[in-house]
Amino acid sequence: MTKTVTLKGLNHVAWRCIDAEQTRHFYEDILGLPLAHIVKSDHVPSTGEYAPYCHLFFEFADNSYLAFFDIRDNKGATLSEDMPRWIHHFAMEVDTMEEVLTMKKRLEDAGIEVLGVTDHHFIQSIYFFDPNGLRLEITMRSETREYMEEAKQKAHAQLAEWNKDKKAAAKLPPETHRENFCTGRAVSSAF
Ligand SMILES: [Fe+2]
Repeated sequence: MTKTVTLKGLNHVAWRCIDAEQTRHFYEDILGLPLAHIVKSDHVPSTGEYAPYCHLFFEFADNSYLAFFDIRDNKGATLSEDMPRWIHHFAMEVDTMEEVLTMKKRLEDAGIEVLGVTDHHFIQSIYFFDPNGLRLEITMRSETREYMEEAKQKAHAQLAEWNKDKKAAAKLPPETHRENFCTGRAVSSAF
């Protein structure tokens, strides 16, 4: 097999947005991510299909980007009707709890509902939605090195346990599945 290469990190992640200017206002004016690049075209370069679009790139301090497409269909970042709203999200990292709380206040001052701070033991996070229905998280690392080392040691065993439980749950009646896997209130508010 051809040898692998080092994948260094995130360059960009891209979503559909309802409106380019509304999205710019949210990310640049409220969150403080500078608009770094715009690509406009009538055709998608990779596939050649006709789809007039405006592609926006917002830049993080590490030089990676969060990107959006406005394709003039006035639809947001939601992927499907049956997807629980807490699943797809994008987490941005800050250094301190003070910065998490500053962003919470800044968002709330802008009239945006914010959930948290939620303690995940290794990170502390707040959650909110952008104007496109995309769930966002701002988080700070609060883990100790020991905690993360222990977590890594346990990860494969925990996954194996999940796989076993999932297989067992698949044999139960469908109404039990829903309780286990989907939209329980405790689960939604925790993430
Ligand atoms: Fe997350």
